[in-house]
Amino acid sequence: MATDINQTKGIILSGMRPTGRLHLGNYLGALQNWVALQQEYKCIYMVADIHALTTMESPLDVVDIQPNIAEMVLDWLAAGVDPEQSTMFVQSQVPEVMVLHTLLSMVTPLGWLLRVPTFKDKVRQMDETEESVNYGLVGYPVLQTADIILYKADTVPVGQDQLPHLELAREIVRRFNHRFGDTFPEPKSKLTEAPLIVGLDGQNKMGKTLDNHLELASTPEETTKRVLTAFTDPQRSTRSIPGRPEVCNVYSLHKLCSTGDEVATVYDECTTAQRGCVDCKRHLAGNINQYLEPLRDRRREFERNPDYVNQLLDDGGKKARAIAKQTVGEVYEKMGLGKYV
Ligand code: TRP
Ligand code: SF4
Repeated sequence: MATDINQTKGIILSGMRPTGRLHLGNYLGALQNWVALQQEYKCIYMVADIHALTTMESPLDVVDIQPNIAEMVLDWLAAGVDPEQSTMFVQSQVPEVMVLHTLLSMVTPLGWLLRVPTFKDKVRQMDETEESVNYGLVGYPVLQTADIILYKADTVPVGQDQLPHLELAREIVRRFNHRFGDTFPEPKSKLTEAPLIVGLDGQNKMGKTLDNHLELASTPEETTKRVLTAFTDPQRSTRSIPGRPEVCNVYSLHKLCSTGDEVATVYDECTTAQRGCVDCKRHLAGNINQYLEPLRDRRREFERNPDYVNQLLDDGGKKARAIAKQTVGEVYEKMGLGKYV
């Protein structure tokens, strides 16, 4: 075997679209888990830049891709994704994924794709119809399947929203294997056990588009400033009214970032009106800053060294590509296309 990715430990592949700097929800919901999985698996982590193109419409959208990749990968490294253990690369640097995508599209019924709930949601969100939407968006899960099976990954850590894509990936694999002979393992999803991280608006999932997020890479001052804007128990109009931590997102964030003892104190003092919301938020901000300090320190180290980060992605891409070529070679033969380059 040309490289050391395909060895005995299970192979994990996961990806994120390049959204730039990550937020606390990305960290607690996915990234932290990526870091932990490195102990047990051979991990391949990919920046899904071609997937990002499925919802971009103009040159104004695409100018952000390169800076967004750099910012996101800095957060990966800061969080502890370790290039000594895991392979990190950018999807478009392994063009074989587009070859495999085309070939897999020959075994994927259109009906399967039109039924995917994320497809229906995106069409609605983009104010399109199933007729007007880009062909590329319809094929989104086929490209995702290609991402996974190009490296014969068997395990894919994802959030709830991606489960339909994984189901589809397994169906495509089954069909391919049935028609052309056993080639790919059926990839299992590994559901990330993460609580839903609610944003500062106290209503919606934390996310960049709603601007209700806390960036990992912010300064402590910025973080404190944003935490102070958080919505709390809407019935607590003055400090003398006892609060209801159960309905307050500042409390849920305390549960994620403060110690058990502190959480108990917050609960007691809130429900007996001994603690005001501003103090409670300052307390939370302090703990979040403390929690993120090691990550922020590490990020600064990597920021000083952009060449290192670029090199690491180049090396990752080369390593990934060597495997990708073998896989596409195998698929060419099986599908009657002869030799691949
Ligand atoms: N679709 C995934 C998301 O939006 C990103 C992604 C692309 C991915 N390719 C992947 C995830 C392969 C897992 C495996 O979050
Ligand atoms: Fe929420 Fe804290 Fe205010 Fe209670 S004191 S409502 S937990 S911010």
